[in-house]
This record gives sequence, structure tokens and C-alpha cells, in this order.
Amino acid sequence: MSLELPYAQHIATLRARADKALSLGGFDHLLVAASTPLRKFLDDQDYSFVANPHFRHWLPLTDTPGSWVVYTPGHKPKLIFVQPRDYWHVVPAAPSGYWVDQFDITIVRTSAEAVALLPKDNCAVIAPNCPQIDGVEINNPPAVVDYLHWHRSYKTPYELELMREASRIGARAHRAAEKAFRAGESEFGIHLAYLAAARQIDAELPYPSIVGLNEHGAILHYTHFDRTPPSQSRSFLIDAGGSASGYASDITRTYAAAGHGEFQALIDSVEKAQLDFVSKVTDGQSYAALHVYAHHTLADVLREHGIIHASAESAVQSGITAAFFPHGLGHPIGLQVHDVAGFQASESGGSIPRPEGHPYLRMTRALEPGMVVTIEPGLYFIDMLLDELRDKPAAKDIDWAKVDAFRSYGGIRIEDDVVCTRGEPENLTRDAFASV
Ligand code: GLY
Ligand code: MN
Ligand code: MN
Repeated sequence: MSLELPYAQHIATLRARADKALSLGGFDHLLVAASTPLRKFLDDQDYSFVANPHFRHWLPLTDTPGSWVVYTPGHKPKLIFVQPRDYWHVVPAAPSGYWVDQFDITIVRTSAEAVALLPKDNCAVIAPNCPQIDGVEINNPPAVVDYLHWHRSYKTPYELELMREASRIGARAHRAAEKAFRAGESEFGIHLAYLAAARQIDAELPYPSIVGLNEHGAILHYTHFDRTPPSQSRSFLIDAGGSASGYASDITRTYAAAGHGEFQALIDSVEKAQLDFVSKVTDGQSYAALHVYAHHTLADVLREHGIIHASAESAVQSGITAAFFPHGLGHPIGLQVHDVAGFQASESGGSIPRPEGHPYLRMTRALEPGMVVTIEPGLYFIDMLLDELRDKPAAKDIDWAKVDAFRSYGGIRIEDDVVCTRGEPENLTRDAFASV
């Protein structure tokens, strides 16, 4: 699909938002730095460059360090584009594509030349504070940033198109990873199969892939990649995404090897619950309330599989479900995999607290059309948390023999990226799997 028209509409939206944000903060200009890479200590090498998400909001440019967007209300946005004279590194290609008509573009050779072209007075300057930029006073004014972050939650049709593409890249690579798992590959081998199918290197992915066989599924952020396959691969949890012009997908799937029917049955129940939560990504739904509801539903799953005997109410109250599902139901996603403003109370800032007893929930806002969130329930067999549970009165409600039987599978997480609309939710992840 041609992005020219949706991009033009996207820029019109960003201009209107910037007009309002600048007037709220009393500023004349918005300056958005692409930013520059961070240098390694005592070294002449840099960490992988990740451009300022505010810059990527304006432009599909992920690798133009030192460049700037300059916006002054009433004027066409300017791009000061740094194209160095450099024979050591790949230099950004000259501006071309569907986006160029929306900008007045000036090409310069150095970051300092770019800074020299910036307006000097009464600017809202959106940039990371580190590394510093010589000659620029970075202020990230809260009135401006809060307003922009609040509205960044509402994705434009252009952004949704890029997120669909990021989902297709992820789904394609997930298929290759599942195939590698079924062929008995090591975690490292599965990871390589994933990268090859995504056609992205690690540094381009929106977050480090989690590729865990067997017990490793119980380590929530397992990014170790064993080089040799285990003697038997019983289960496989993969949490990995893809990037499209600076937008992220975030996808988790869990698989049982053939012959492990009891674990497959538990996966099937978590998936049924997950689809129920996805169906509730609707206008006005409080995300925090959906997270608490998920705890009750997962308690029912644990009971149906004979892992616990308690009622849902009592399992949630006593902390049983928190031991098996010790993270949040999900988070906003977009330019960043954990996108901004999940807790924000209004466009002028503030914060909606997490419900008591749910310290890792990453979103408390009510859902509205245009928002994209992940829905990622899980059930895990984590030794540390189960040991703590054993010392509590609730231990009597657990079938420990069942728990022990499941430990060698690690855990289950199923994660989709879902758009809230005026009607049915759009499941970016399932649509992407269906299309590849
Ligand atoms: N992959 C990180 C997360 O699911 O939030
Ligand atoms: Mn996630
Ligand atoms: Mn994830």
C-alpha cells in the first residue's frame, strides 16, 4: 500500500498536536533531535544507535544521527539532515521516498552545522540528556512532553500500517523459530533461524529476543541462548518482535513438543483465556481492571488443571495467582516496545496508580480507539516464587505434585498486539500469522 497519503495525514496530525503542545508550554519552536550514539567508556566505539522516538514519530528514519526536525507553527516542518563526509561508515542515503514532500530539507555534513541552523530563542528541545549536544540546551519541557506523550497513544492510520508490517515480520520469523524448535535446534540455532526469517539483526529488533527451551521458559527475561540443544526439548517459549520504520511488534508463543499432552492442554487453556482478554480491548475498558480480571481467569485455569484447589477469589487474594502470573497483563506499544503514557492521568500529566498488589503492571489507563496494547498473560513454574508460596498458608491450596510435574516445562506466555477500535479489536499479531 502506498504510504504517501496516510503519511501526509499523519504529519498534519503531528503538526496540530505540536501547535497545541507549544502553546501550552509557551514556546515558539519545537526542536526534535534524532540524537547521537552513546560512546563506550574508554573506547572509540559506540553502542548501537537508537534514534529518539520523538524523531521517529515524525520520520521513518532510524539511522540519521545528528539530524533534527524543526517545527514552527504555521510553517512547513524542516528536516536538517546530516549526511557526513565519511569513508569509515555507511552514510545515510540522500532523502527520498514517500515522506520527503512533507519537509523542507537542508543537508549538512556535520552535527555542529546542523546545530548552527537551529532557532535559538524560546524553543522546546526534545532530546535525550545524554550524550549532551554541544551548543544546545535540552529542556524537554514537561507541559510539551506530557501533551505529546498522551496523544502518542492514539496511533494514526499511517502508524497502524507500519505496526501491521512489524507484526508480519515478527510472525514470519516466529514460524521459522517454531520449525527450528521442532527440528531439535539449540536456543542459539532457533535464534539464528528467527533473525534469518525476520531479515533483521539483533540491533534492529525492538528488544532482545527471549528464546527459552524447557525450564528456561520460567526465566521471564531469559536472553542467554544456550549453544547446544538439551537432550530432550519438551517446551519452547519465544518472545520476539520485529521493527518496521521504527515501530515495534512484541509477540510471544509457547509450544509443547509432541507427546507432552498435559502441557499442551495447559497452553490451550491459557490461549483461550488470552483470546478472551483480547476481546475486551474495547473503548472505555480500564486496562488495570482487565489485568485484575485476568488474575481471576488464570486462577480458574489453574484449578481446572488440578494445580490449585482454591476459588479464584481466594487464589487472587492470597497471592497464589501472583506467584504463577508475576508480571503485568501487558503495556502500550508503538515507537517503543514499552510505549509511553501507560499510567498518564490526562494530557497535562499526572499518574494513575497501579492496583494494590500488582507492582509490575505497566498500564493503568482506560483503553480508547487508536491505542495499541499487548495482551500477554502467562503461567510459570518459577522455583523462587513457588518456594515463597510454600511458606504461606495458601500452600495448602496447591497440588505440589502437579506443580513438580510441570516445572520442567518452565512456563507459558502468549502475547498479541491489539488495536482498540470503535468496534471489534484488531489483533495485529493473529492477522499477521494468518497472512504469512
Ligand atoms: N518482550 C517484552 C515484553 O513482552 O514486554
Ligand atoms: Mn510485551
Ligand atoms: Mn514480549
